[in-house]
Amino acid sequence: VNIILLGPPGAGKGTQARRLVEARGMVQLSTGDMLRDARNSGTEMGRRVAEVMDRGELVTDEIVIGLIRERLEGPEGAGFIFDGFPRTLPQADALEELMAELGQRIAAVIEMQVDDAVLVARISGRYTCGNCGEVYHDVTRPTKVVGICDVCGSTDLRRRADDNAESLRTRLLEYYKKTSPLVGYYWAKERLRRVDGLAEIEAVAAEIAAILDSGQ
Ligand code: AP5
Ligand code: ZN
Repeated sequence: VNIILLGPPGAGKGTQARRLVEARGMVQLSTGDMLRDARNSGTEMGRRVAEVMDRGELVTDEIVIGLIRERLEGPEGAGFIFDGFPRTLPQADALEELMAELGQRIAAVIEMQVDDAVLVARISGRYTCGNCGEVYHDVTRPTKVVGICDVCGSTDLRRRADDNAESLRTRLLEYYKKTSPLVGYYWAKERLRRVDGLAEIEAVAAEIAAILDSGQ
Protein backbone atom coordinates (compact mmCIF):
# COMPACT_ATOMS: atom_id res chain seq x y z
CA VAL A 1 0.00 0.00 0.00
CA ASN A 2 1.00 3.61 -0.58
CA ILE A 3 0.47 6.18 2.16
CA ILE A 4 1.06 9.86 2.84
CA LEU A 5 2.29 11.12 6.21
CA LEU A 6 0.85 14.60 6.65
CA GLY A 7 1.67 16.99 9.47
CA PRO A 8 3.53 20.15 10.47
CA PRO A 9 7.32 20.35 10.90
CA GLY A 10 8.33 18.20 13.86
CA ALA A 11 5.14 16.12 13.86
CA GLY A 12 7.25 12.95 13.57
CA LYS A 13 6.79 12.11 9.88
CA GLY A 14 10.43 11.21 9.27
CA THR A 15 10.67 9.22 12.51
CA GLN A 16 7.64 7.08 11.64
CA ALA A 17 8.60 6.71 7.97
CA ARG A 18 11.97 5.22 8.94
CA ARG A 19 10.25 2.70 11.20
CA LEU A 20 7.91 1.62 8.39
CA VAL A 21 10.88 1.11 6.06
CA GLU A 22 12.54 -1.07 8.69
CA ALA A 23 9.42 -3.00 9.71
CA ARG A 24 7.65 -3.45 6.38
CA GLY A 25 10.12 -2.84 3.58
CA MET A 26 8.22 0.18 2.35
CA VAL A 27 10.06 2.89 0.38
CA GLN A 28 10.36 6.34 2.01
CA LEU A 29 10.06 9.28 -0.36
CA SER A 30 10.99 12.40 1.62
CA THR A 31 11.20 15.52 -0.52
CA GLY A 32 13.02 17.24 2.37
CA ASP A 33 15.76 14.57 2.28
CA MET A 34 15.94 14.71 -1.53
CA LEU A 35 16.35 18.49 -1.43
CA ARG A 36 19.04 18.25 1.28
CA ASP A 37 20.88 15.64 -0.82
CA ALA A 38 20.72 17.98 -3.81
CA ARG A 39 22.23 20.77 -1.69
CA ASN A 40 25.00 18.58 -0.35
CA SER A 41 25.93 17.34 -3.79
CA GLY A 42 26.27 20.97 -4.93
CA THR A 43 24.03 20.70 -7.98
CA GLU A 44 22.64 23.80 -9.64
CA MET A 45 19.19 22.96 -8.29
CA GLY A 46 20.65 22.40 -4.81
CA ARG A 47 22.18 25.86 -4.82
CA ARG A 48 18.91 27.41 -5.90
CA VAL A 49 16.83 25.80 -3.16
CA ALA A 50 19.30 26.18 -0.26
CA GLU A 51 18.34 29.72 0.73
CA VAL A 52 14.63 29.07 0.36
CA MET A 53 14.86 26.04 2.66
CA ASP A 54 16.95 27.85 5.27
CA ARG A 55 14.34 30.60 5.44
CA GLY A 56 11.68 27.93 6.00
CA GLU A 57 9.72 28.68 2.82
CA LEU A 58 8.46 26.05 0.40
CA VAL A 59 10.44 25.42 -2.77
CA THR A 60 8.54 25.50 -6.07
CA ASP A 61 5.99 22.81 -6.95
CA GLU A 62 7.82 22.21 -10.21
CA ILE A 63 11.06 21.18 -8.48
CA VAL A 64 9.52 18.83 -5.92
CA ILE A 65 7.09 17.22 -8.38
CA GLY A 66 10.09 16.57 -10.66
CA LEU A 67 11.98 14.89 -7.80
CA ILE A 68 9.02 12.67 -6.94
CA ARG A 69 8.41 11.74 -10.56
CA GLU A 70 12.02 10.50 -10.91
CA ARG A 71 11.79 8.41 -7.77
CA LEU A 72 8.46 6.81 -8.68
CA GLU A 73 10.19 5.23 -11.64
CA GLY A 74 12.43 3.33 -9.19
CA PRO A 75 11.67 0.28 -7.01
CA GLU A 76 8.44 0.42 -5.04
CA GLY A 77 9.05 -2.31 -2.42
CA ALA A 78 6.01 -2.90 -0.24
CA GLY A 79 4.61 0.51 -1.13
CA PHE A 80 5.62 4.15 -0.97
CA ILE A 81 5.54 6.38 2.10
CA PHE A 82 5.25 9.99 1.01
CA ASP A 83 6.94 12.04 3.76
CA GLY A 84 6.66 15.82 3.42
CA PHE A 85 4.99 15.57 0.01
CA PRO A 86 2.48 16.72 -1.16
CA ARG A 87 2.54 20.10 0.58
CA THR A 88 0.30 22.18 -1.72
CA LEU A 89 -2.91 21.49 -3.63
CA PRO A 90 -1.11 21.48 -7.02
CA GLN A 91 1.34 18.90 -5.62
CA ALA A 92 -1.58 16.75 -4.45
CA ASP A 93 -3.20 16.89 -7.89
CA ALA A 94 0.13 16.02 -9.54
CA LEU A 95 0.53 13.02 -7.24
CA GLU A 96 -2.95 11.74 -8.11
CA GLU A 97 -1.99 11.88 -11.79
CA LEU A 98 1.39 10.23 -11.30
CA MET A 99 -0.16 7.39 -9.31
CA ALA A 100 -2.87 6.90 -11.92
CA GLU A 101 -0.19 6.65 -14.63
CA LEU A 102 1.41 3.85 -12.62
CA GLY A 103 -1.94 2.13 -12.07
CA GLN A 104 -1.63 2.77 -8.34
CA ARG A 105 -3.37 4.81 -5.67
CA ILE A 106 -2.86 6.34 -2.25
CA ALA A 107 -4.66 4.10 0.23
CA ALA A 108 -4.47 6.34 3.29
CA VAL A 109 -3.38 9.82 4.26
CA ILE A 110 -2.29 9.82 7.88
CA GLU A 111 -2.56 13.18 9.56
CA MET A 112 -0.26 13.42 12.57
CA GLN A 113 -1.88 15.82 15.00
CA VAL A 114 0.32 17.80 17.40
CA ASP A 115 0.27 21.14 19.25
CA ASP A 116 2.45 24.00 18.05
CA ALA A 117 4.03 24.35 21.50
CA VAL A 118 5.33 20.79 21.28
CA LEU A 119 6.72 21.35 17.79
CA VAL A 120 9.09 24.04 19.02
CA ALA A 121 10.51 21.67 21.65
CA ARG A 122 10.82 18.84 19.13
CA ILE A 123 12.54 20.89 16.46
CA SER A 124 14.93 22.63 18.83
CA GLY A 125 16.08 19.30 20.29
CA ARG A 126 16.42 17.40 17.03
CA TYR A 127 19.65 16.04 15.56
CA THR A 128 20.22 13.44 12.84
CA CYS A 129 22.95 11.05 11.79
CA GLY A 130 24.73 12.44 8.73
CA ASN A 131 25.65 8.93 7.65
CA CYS A 132 22.43 6.85 7.97
CA GLY A 133 19.79 9.55 8.57
CA GLU A 134 18.51 8.25 11.93
CA VAL A 135 16.56 10.96 13.79
CA TYR A 136 17.29 11.75 17.46
CA HIS A 137 16.17 14.21 20.11
CA ASP A 138 18.11 15.67 23.07
CA VAL A 139 15.35 14.73 25.52
CA THR A 140 12.88 12.26 23.99
CA ARG A 141 15.23 10.09 21.96
CA PRO A 142 18.94 10.61 22.67
CA THR A 143 21.65 8.29 21.34
CA LYS A 144 22.54 5.53 23.82
CA VAL A 145 26.17 6.71 23.89
CA VAL A 146 26.67 10.47 23.64
CA GLY A 147 27.93 11.48 20.21
CA ILE A 148 27.59 8.07 18.52
CA CYS A 149 24.73 6.94 16.27
CA ASP A 150 22.94 3.84 17.68
CA VAL A 151 22.27 2.47 14.22
CA CYS A 152 25.55 2.84 12.32
CA GLY A 153 28.14 3.98 14.88
CA SER A 154 28.91 7.23 13.03
CA THR A 155 30.00 10.27 15.04
CA ASP A 156 28.65 12.61 12.33
CA LEU A 157 25.60 13.88 14.24
CA ARG A 158 24.16 17.09 12.84
CA ARG A 159 21.56 19.78 13.41
CA ARG A 160 19.61 21.22 10.48
CA ALA A 161 20.20 24.79 9.29
CA ASP A 162 16.43 25.43 9.28
CA ASP A 163 15.88 24.19 12.85
CA ASN A 164 15.98 27.62 14.46
CA ALA A 165 13.14 29.67 15.98
CA GLU A 166 12.80 32.09 13.06
CA SER A 167 12.72 29.50 10.27
CA LEU A 168 10.39 27.32 12.29
CA ARG A 169 7.92 30.20 12.53
CA THR A 170 7.98 30.54 8.74
CA ARG A 171 7.66 26.75 8.29
CA LEU A 172 4.58 26.71 10.52
CA LEU A 173 3.01 29.62 8.63
CA GLU A 174 3.71 27.88 5.32
CA TYR A 175 2.12 24.72 6.73
CA TYR A 176 -1.09 26.44 7.81
CA LYS A 177 -1.39 28.53 4.64
CA LYS A 178 -0.45 26.02 1.96
CA THR A 179 -0.43 22.49 3.36
CA SER A 180 -3.31 22.31 5.84
CA PRO A 181 -5.91 22.62 3.01
CA LEU A 182 -4.84 19.08 2.07
CA VAL A 183 -6.65 17.82 5.18
CA GLY A 184 -9.97 18.79 3.61
CA TYR A 185 -8.85 17.61 0.18
CA TYR A 186 -8.19 14.06 1.37
CA TRP A 187 -11.10 14.04 3.80
CA ALA A 188 -13.39 14.66 0.82
CA LYS A 189 -11.77 11.70 -0.93
CA GLU A 190 -12.47 9.60 2.20
CA ARG A 191 -8.82 8.74 2.66
CA LEU A 192 -7.95 10.83 5.71
CA ARG A 193 -6.96 9.02 8.93
CA ARG A 194 -5.86 10.83 12.07
CA VAL A 195 -3.34 9.76 14.68
CA ASP A 196 -2.33 11.39 17.95
CA GLY A 197 1.17 12.65 17.21
CA LEU A 198 1.64 13.72 20.84
CA ALA A 199 1.80 10.12 22.01
CA GLU A 200 5.13 8.33 22.46
CA ILE A 201 6.96 7.21 19.34
CA GLU A 202 6.02 3.54 19.92
CA ALA A 203 2.34 4.37 20.47
CA VAL A 204 2.18 6.45 17.28
CA ALA A 205 3.81 3.59 15.38
CA ALA A 206 1.18 1.20 16.74
CA GLU A 207 -1.66 3.48 15.62
CA ILE A 208 -0.18 3.70 12.12
CA ALA A 209 0.33 -0.08 11.99
CA ALA A 210 -3.33 -0.57 12.91
CA ILE A 211 -4.40 1.65 10.03
CA LEU A 212 -2.18 -0.21 7.56
CA ASP A 213 -3.39 -3.60 8.80
CA SER A 214 -7.05 -2.62 8.62
CA GLY A 215 -6.76 -3.26 4.89
CA GLN A 216 -6.89 0.44 4.25
P1 AP5 B 1 11.19 18.57 5.57
O1 AP5 B 1 12.51 17.95 5.63
O2 AP5 B 1 10.04 17.80 5.03
O3 AP5 B 1 10.87 19.12 7.01
P2 AP5 B 1 9.48 19.31 7.80
O4 AP5 B 1 8.21 19.04 7.12
O5 AP5 B 1 9.64 20.66 8.39
O6 AP5 B 1 9.46 18.16 8.75
P3 AP5 B 1 10.54 17.80 9.74
O7 AP5 B 1 11.57 16.95 9.10
O8 AP5 B 1 11.02 19.05 10.43
O9 AP5 B 1 9.70 17.02 10.84
P4 AP5 B 1 9.16 15.54 10.92
O10 AP5 B 1 7.67 15.59 10.95
O11 AP5 B 1 9.81 14.64 9.93
O12 AP5 B 1 9.65 15.20 12.39
P5 AP5 B 1 10.81 14.22 12.91
O13 AP5 B 1 10.41 12.81 12.73
O14 AP5 B 1 12.14 14.65 12.40
O15 AP5 B 1 11.26 19.93 4.72
C1 AP5 B 1 12.30 20.85 4.90
C2 AP5 B 1 12.19 21.96 3.87
O16 AP5 B 1 12.33 21.43 2.55
C3 AP5 B 1 10.85 22.71 3.82
O17 AP5 B 1 10.80 23.77 4.77
C4 AP5 B 1 10.84 23.22 2.37
O18 AP5 B 1 11.69 24.34 2.21
C5 AP5 B 1 11.45 22.07 1.61
N1 AP5 B 1 10.44 21.08 1.15
C6 AP5 B 1 10.37 19.76 1.51
N2 AP5 B 1 9.33 19.14 0.89
C7 AP5 B 1 8.73 20.10 0.13
C8 AP5 B 1 7.59 20.09 -0.72
N3 AP5 B 1 6.85 18.97 -0.90
N4 AP5 B 1 7.24 21.26 -1.33
C9 AP5 B 1 7.96 22.38 -1.17
N5 AP5 B 1 9.05 22.47 -0.36
C10 AP5 B 1 9.43 21.33 0.28
O19 AP5 B 1 10.72 14.53 14.48
C11 AP5 B 1 11.09 15.80 15.02
C12 AP5 B 1 11.79 15.59 16.38
O20 AP5 B 1 10.86 15.09 17.34
C13 AP5 B 1 12.94 14.59 16.36
O21 AP5 B 1 13.96 15.04 17.19
C14 AP5 B 1 12.31 13.29 16.89
O22 AP5 B 1 13.27 12.47 17.56
C15 AP5 B 1 11.26 13.80 17.84
N6 AP5 B 1 10.03 12.98 17.88
C16 AP5 B 1 9.37 12.43 16.80
N7 AP5 B 1 8.24 11.80 17.20
C17 AP5 B 1 8.18 11.96 18.55
C18 AP5 B 1 7.23 11.53 19.55
N8 AP5 B 1 6.11 10.82 19.21
N9 AP5 B 1 7.45 11.87 20.83
C19 AP5 B 1 8.57 12.60 21.17
N10 AP5 B 1 9.52 13.02 20.28
C20 AP5 B 1 9.31 12.71 18.99
ZN1 ZN C 1 23.73 6.53 11.75
